[in-house]
This record gives sequence, structure tokens and C-alpha cells, in this order.
Amino acid sequence: MTPTDTAAKCPVRHGFDPLGDSYVADPYPIHTAVREEAPAFYAEAIDMWVITRYDDIEAVLKDPATFSAAVGQRPVFPMSEEAQRILKDGFRAYPVMSDCDPPRHTRIRKHNMTGFSPRRIAMLEPKVWAKATELVDAIEPGRVDLVSALTYPLPAYMIFTFIGFPDEDMDMLKSWCGNRIAFSWGRPSGDEQREIATNMTHYWEYCEKFVAQRAAEPADDFTSDLVRIHQADPDALSLADITNVAYGLSFAGHETTTSFTGNAIRQLLANPEQWAAICQDRSLIAKAIEELLRFDSSIPAWRRITTRAVDVGGVEIPAEAKVLILLGAANRDPNHFENPETFDIHRGDARRHLAFGKGIHYCIGAPLARMEARIALDLLAQRAPDMQMVEGQDFDFPPNVSFRGPRSLLVDWPE
Ligand code: HEM
Repeated sequence: MTPTDTAAKCPVRHGFDPLGDSYVADPYPIHTAVREEAPAFYAEAIDMWVITRYDDIEAVLKDPATFSAAVGQRPVFPMSEEAQRILKDGFRAYPVMSDCDPPRHTRIRKHNMTGFSPRRIAMLEPKVWAKATELVDAIEPGRVDLVSALTYPLPAYMIFTFIGFPDEDMDMLKSWCGNRIAFSWGRPSGDEQREIATNMTHYWEYCEKFVAQRAAEPADDFTSDLVRIHQADPDALSLADITNVAYGLSFAGHETTTSFTGNAIRQLLANPEQWAAICQDRSLIAKAIEELLRFDSSIPAWRRITTRAVDVGGVEIPAEAKVLILLGAANRDPNHFENPETFDIHRGDARRHLAFGKGIHYCIGAPLARMEARIALDLLAQRAPDMQMVEGQDFDFPPNVSFRGPRSLLVDWPE
């Protein structure tokens, strides 16, 4: 009997805990072990079924009728009563995109695609360059944390600008967004839950007012694009739908890209010959980004819930089971990538990664994320090809089931 046969018969893995220290520090050796051991298993620590292999994960993403997205944003662990009460009083969000199933998802996504038109994304490119240049110009020689100097503020500013939020509100908006990863994907304390729920309520109310203001006075931004669709046909998209989209995007478009760009810089500096190759020929950056997404994405795992009992690689997963799909394990599956544990910006097959998902929920912000990462790396390669990662620093990753990126990334910035 092979290990897989054994695991398929008894698919419980007691030790698998995405909030455990070793997983948080580096999930990939654990991904490899569980992928080799079984296509799917039950993880007691998180009360979820875990799916480990590329083909099965791709099949999950392509089967929204069996694998509902409804749990996508729900807290993994039960919310405190106080947080529930705070949200009940002032937070009126409902599923519209990543945690929404057809038919509502189909309707709302279709209109969002209009807002994410190549024209609007292209319009952002000079703004991304300008903001990234401003941030890099402000860096002084010496020791610098590239997360606070560049990879946190750049995506925050760009997604708020894309939505249309005024510049002067950005610091306030950022202060309300903190720690939302912990709320839905981690295990926050009671005090943290209270603070995050209060901030979510402030942020939600701000989004409601903002959308009402754009409905009265449309401008040239993504929210106004959606408002025009609403005004042409109120049944196509309601103002509440638009508020939900604005609310959700400011999170989806921020932490994901902050974390990815942080992972990307760290990975490149840890492989100096590949960083040097990029600095010599910046046209390599776009391809390198695909390898970075494959090798060290910011969303190494995502969630679904089954609508019926289903067989995954010989393992029976029951109906209404919460499921964790290990996108990071899929992206290193040797059945799909040659020498998958090797980071190589020149590899030809990297773009087949599942870092942005696949199917109806495929990341709508992928072009923007790629653009922001490309521009950040391009500027760093131009301005600081000799920067060095500070040796021996402790990388701190927020403990949670889905998102991964360093909280800080210290480098020595040259004169
Ligand atoms: C490197 C950065 C990013 C990564 C790794 C990433 C990853 C993902 C993944 C894996 C999904 C699919 C989830 C699923 O199948 O349920 C997704 C969906 C989504 N992403 Fe991203 N994302 C990134 C950046 C962005 C940005 C910049 C935005 C917004 C501008 C964004 C907005 C969204 C939205 C709205 C969805 C839901 C789409 C739907 O359900 O139809 N993402 N993302």
C-alpha cells in the first residue's frame, strides 16, 4: 500500500495547523509533505478539509457549483459576541465578489469588468510610476524598511485612487484597514476583534457616503463607472452593490499586493545572481513576476465550502465541509513544474501558476497587481541595484490561513 492509499483511507492530519509557528515561518516544506502524502485530508486545528495537488485544486476552482465561495471572507474562528454586536449595528456588507456565488456573482463581476477595463488600468500606469518614484525618492541611504517605505503605501494609494477616494482621506482610510487579515483569516483576541469590527464599521459608513456622493456627482474613476451603469439600469447594479464592491476592493487590492511585492523583493535579494540579471536587463521583470507569483505568492491558500459530498483524488469530502485549497502547494507540484522547488526567473512554465486562481473568481485585479510589482521592481533595479538585504533579520509573518507577506523587510540602501 502506498502512503497515498493509507492517507486516503484515514485522511485526518492532526498536526496540520496553518497558524502554527513553523507553518507561519515557512509553509512550503509542509505543503510538500502533505501534497506527497495525500490529495486531501481533514485538518482538526482549523476544522477544514485541505486539498493539496494542482489538478484537484484547478478542478475545485472550475467547479463553483460543488465548491461554493461563500466562506471566502468569513472569520475562520468564531467571532466574539461584542464584535458581532458592533457589526450588526453599523456594518451592512453582503457578498458581491470573492465570497459570492452565481447568479449574483456573475451579474456583479460582469459590471466590474467594465470598471477594470484596459483603458482604466492603463490610465493608472503613469500614476503608479509617479507614486512609486515619490516613495523611492524619499528613501535615505542607510537601513530602511521597504515595507513601510514602499510596498505598503504604493498599493494602498493606488487602490484608493482607482476607487476614487480623495487623497486627503487616505491616512484615515488606512488607519481603518489595519489588521483585517487577522479578523477573517487569523485568531484575533477579543480586544483586537472589537477594534477591527469598529474600524470596519467606520470604513463601511465612509464607503456608503462616498458612493452616494459619486451618484450625485460622478467623476472619472472606477466607482463613477459603476454609478453610470447603475444610472442607465438600476436593476443591473444597485448603489448598495457598488458600496460593497468599493468596500471589498480596498482590501483585496491592498494587502495582497503589499505582501506579494514584499515577498518578491525578499526572494530576489536572497538570490543575488537573479537580482543582478534583472538590474542588468529590466525587460526580464515581467517574466520574473510570474515566477515570483508561482514560488512565493501572497495568497498561498484560499477557501471554499462544499455544497455536496465529493470525491477528491479518492478522498470523500462530505457536504458542507469547509475546504482549504493550497494554491502554494499546487504552484510547486512536480507534476506541473520542473524542479518546482527551484526559484528561477528564466523558467518557461511559471505563468501556469494558480496564484490568481482560475475560473469565475479569477483575480480581477491581476493586471493592476502585476503592474504595481513591475514598476516597484523596475525602480528599485534602477535606483538601488546594490541594495543588500540585512542579514539575520527575523521575518515576521501575520499568522492566518491565507495571506503571506513579511511585516517588514530591512535593506541597506546605498549612498
Ligand atoms: C499579487 C497580488 C494578488 C494576489 C496574489 C491575488 C490573488 C487572488 C486570488 C487567488 C483570487 C481568487 C480567489 C478565488 O478563487 O476565490 C483573487 C480574487 C480577487 N482579487 Fe486578487 N490578488 C491580488 C491582487 C488583487 C488586486 C490588486 C485587486 C484589486 C484591484 C484584487 C481583487 C480581487 C477581487 C475583487 C477578487 C474576487 C474576484 C471574483 O470573485 O470574481 N486582487 N485574487
